[in-house]
Amino acid sequence: MKKINIAIDGYAGCGKSTTAKLVAQKLHYLFVDSGSMYRAVTLYFIQNQVDITNLEQVKKALLDIHIVFKNNAQTHQREIYLNGICVEKEIRSLEVSNYVSEVSALKEVRVNMVKQQQRMGLHKGVVMDGRDIGTVVFPDAELKIFMTATLDARVQRRKLEFAEKGQSYSAAVLRENLLSRDEIDTTRQESPLRQAQDAYVLDTTSLSIDEQVNWVIEKAQHIMGSLESAQARQDIIRQEQSVI
Ligand code: CDP
Repeated sequence: MKKINIAIDGYAGCGKSTTAKLVAQKLHYLFVDSGSMYRAVTLYFIQNQVDITNLEQVKKALLDIHIVFKNNAQTHQREIYLNGICVEKEIRSLEVSNYVSEVSALKEVRVNMVKQQQRMGLHKGVVMDGRDIGTVVFPDAELKIFMTATLDARVQRRKLEFAEKGQSYSAAVLRENLLSRDEIDTTRQESPLRQAQDAYVLDTTSLSIDEQVNWVIEKAQHIMGSLESAQARQDIIRQEQSVI
């Protein structure tokens, strides 16, 4: 079957990465959590005390940042490496979460990340989630989803996620983080979070993960089926023309 690119965008904590990862597994596609790349840049900026108001420092730091994804042979999960070190755990800390949207609003950071993300999608077969995937990274993606969920549902999910890692934060602290990130992400000048005109809206408030995943898979299969029939029609026309 012809491969497609799937772009999943939406607000913080509405289940984009969980859904994208499982969709990619089912379709045998590559999963890219673009947010983890911005988080890795943020971690580097924190560790190296990069002043984000100093453009020269930001540019120099970006030259020193090398991000790659590698498969963990034991867990079969893709993990993110920052300059050779696996930072999968560190990038999910509340400290990084509280700063990532400010770092992601910088034009230099975005240009750098978008270039890398576009390269990953050149050969299709990618499920990427983020904030600007359907609008900037893959404006030609065959399937675009804009995910939403109520703030309460998103806070509860984040609480559970931290609890699973043995960390406990109050609903108020998590709510504040989600709200302030949404605010910065939707109002920034550089590629703000926006629903692409041709995106399907998926409200996950009362859906289970399986339901979300199946919803996306159905849409993807439908699109792949249409592409296949269009290709078959073109093949027939070409054959008929060669006979004439
Ligand atoms: O917490 P959640 O999983 O929803 O966020 P994330 O996907 O890990 O992204 C963290 C932050 O990175 C977002 O709040 C945005 O500020 C930024 N980001 C972005 O600007 N563009 C993207 N394509 C992905 C993430």
